[in-house]
Amino acid sequence: MNRVAPARAVSSPPPGVSVRIEGVSKAYDTREGDSIPALDRTDIMIEPGEFVAIVGPSGCGKSTALNLIAGLLPASSGRILLDGEVVKRPHRKIGVVFQTDLLLYWRTVTENILLPIEIKRGRAADYLPRVEQLLEQVGLQGFGGKYPSELSGGMRQRVAICRALIQDPGLLLMDEPFGALDALTREQMIMDLQAMWLSVRNTVLFITHSIEEAVFLADRVIVMSPRPGRVDLDLHIELKRPRRWAVHTDPRFVDYMARVRKIFESKGVLTER
Ligand SMILES: Nc1ncnc2c1ncn2[C@@H]1O[C@H](COP(=O)(O)OP(=O)(O)O)[C@@H](O)[C@H]1O
Ligand SMILES: [Mg+2]
Repeated sequence: MNRVAPARAVSSPPPGVSVRIEGVSKAYDTREGDSIPALDRTDIMIEPGEFVAIVGPSGCGKSTALNLIAGLLPASSGRILLDGEVVKRPHRKIGVVFQTDLLLYWRTVTENILLPIEIKRGRAADYLPRVEQLLEQVGLQGFGGKYPSELSGGMRQRVAICRALIQDPGLLLMDEPFGALDALTREQMIMDLQAMWLSVRNTVLFITHSIEEAVFLADRVIVMSPRPGRVDLDLHIELKRPRRWAVHTDPRFVDYMARVRKIFESKGVLTER
């Protein structure tokens, strides 16, 4: 992903889309007849082309928020708008990357990346140049004919990212995409994601439980409280890009980390014994 800015082979990319989450609540009904509140009257506004990270403890409603934005779940109340349009169902403008790659083992890398095109009944052959370009951007040139079982976890997740990007989505949703990777692979993926985003500049909503990942990658870090989730802090990260790994020792970086940690400590999410 750290090579050249891509020229669009198939179509010019839409600019990043805006996201408005207005007073959104979500409760899950259980089989026992209870209602579990997962998200409570949440408001989040994201500008086109912003890279926003949401960080919060496990179970605070991060994945719920992502699934609502993706149109995969209905909200209990409130509404979500993409470029001013209410989200009702999965949308072409959105690409999603989950923690597990969800690749189909019987399809090659190229066939996996083309899946969203086939589902939309597009002409897969038209997108082959774009597949090659994406594979090159993520350092997987020449791997198009391989099967998922022939790849490492990090490589598979790169393929999942290519699949999410094949339609040049104006909004990329990522739900703890690097959570299952080893530390070194994760570090490389973080650097590559930044490079990829700098060349595309679409809107990204990146969900993580890693404060460090959030502060390194995002323009804004949104901190959510324990369930039912609400926004506790909305922190603008004023560190210039491209950010090098060494920024981790920059006093401003350390201060941002401390501010997020403080929220978690005040909520009892982090305690020192
Ligand atoms: N399908 C479901 N049915 C019932 N409860 C759910 C369901 N999905 C999530 N929850 C509950 O909602 C809360 C938020 O879940 P989730 O959005 O997955 O949190 P996070 O991604 O922040 O870990 C959790 O308490 C979880 O147990
Ligand atoms: Mg989750």
